[in-house]
Amino acid sequence: MTEDVRSEARVRIAHAGDVPAIARIYVDTWRSAYAGLLPDRVLTGMSETRQQAYWGETLARGTDTMHVAEIAGAVAGFAAAGPARPLLPKSVEPACRGEVYTLYVLPEHQDRGLGRALLAASFGALARRNMLPVVVWVLADNPARFFYEHLGGRRVGERQSSLGGAHHLEAAYLWTDIPCSGSARWSI
Ligand SMILES: CC(C)(COP(=O)(O)OP(=O)(O)OC[C@H]1O[C@@H](n2cnc3c(N)ncnc32)[C@H](O)[C@@H]1OP(=O)(O)O)[C@@H](O)C(=O)NCCC(=O)NCCS
Repeated sequence: MTEDVRSEARVRIAHAGDVPAIARIYVDTWRSAYAGLLPDRVLTGMSETRQQAYWGETLARGTDTMHVAEIAGAVAGFAAAGPARPLLPKSVEPACRGEVYTLYVLPEHQDRGLGRALLAASFGALARRNMLPVVVWVLADNPARFFYEHLGGRRVGERQSSLGGAHHLEAAYLWTDIPCSGSARWSI
């Protein structure tokens, strides 16, 4: 952690009023994290308005568990989790019930423990929904894979996918032993 933000940071369940911030974080972090990994036209073509519609519908549907991380009352990151998509090979898939679909922290607030706290909150919510173990899919070239490895994820599979006409590899990370979100290591 580069500075002590524990006193002013917290993670909570997302609500409808968070949708504009979630859409902005989604667009900002995609453009920053995926430059050079995904086609420029995909990143420049992103729209906060479309993202607001998507996340507003997702929240209203209620199948995803969504959390936001706040610093001093401003939303700085978010995560969405729910039932695992059936993307893993049959040898792994039966063991996998939950998935963290999305985990993004604004570039200026990264490396302060928010990503870990959001992941822990998502794990806790999936455990309460009886959706363990948990998988996360990440672009295989995304440095975020080291974050997941650092936090105990085990690489269990890969798949090819495409976006904007470009093909890329995604890697699956699995957690069978879910860390206790109440422990100091997993809190902010
Ligand atoms: C990946 C991401 C969510 C991590 O969130 P964060 O708030 O920056 O991470 P944290 O501060 O909670 O880091 C927790 C630990 O992981 C480590 N870590 C974080 N990012 C890392 C990385 N890229 N490589 C290696 N370790 C990393 C931190 O050093 C910290 O280690 P510690 O045990 O010494 O404290 C965030 O950087 C992000 O949003 N990235 C861009 C979007 C993205 O790629 N999201 C993932 C899509 S699948």
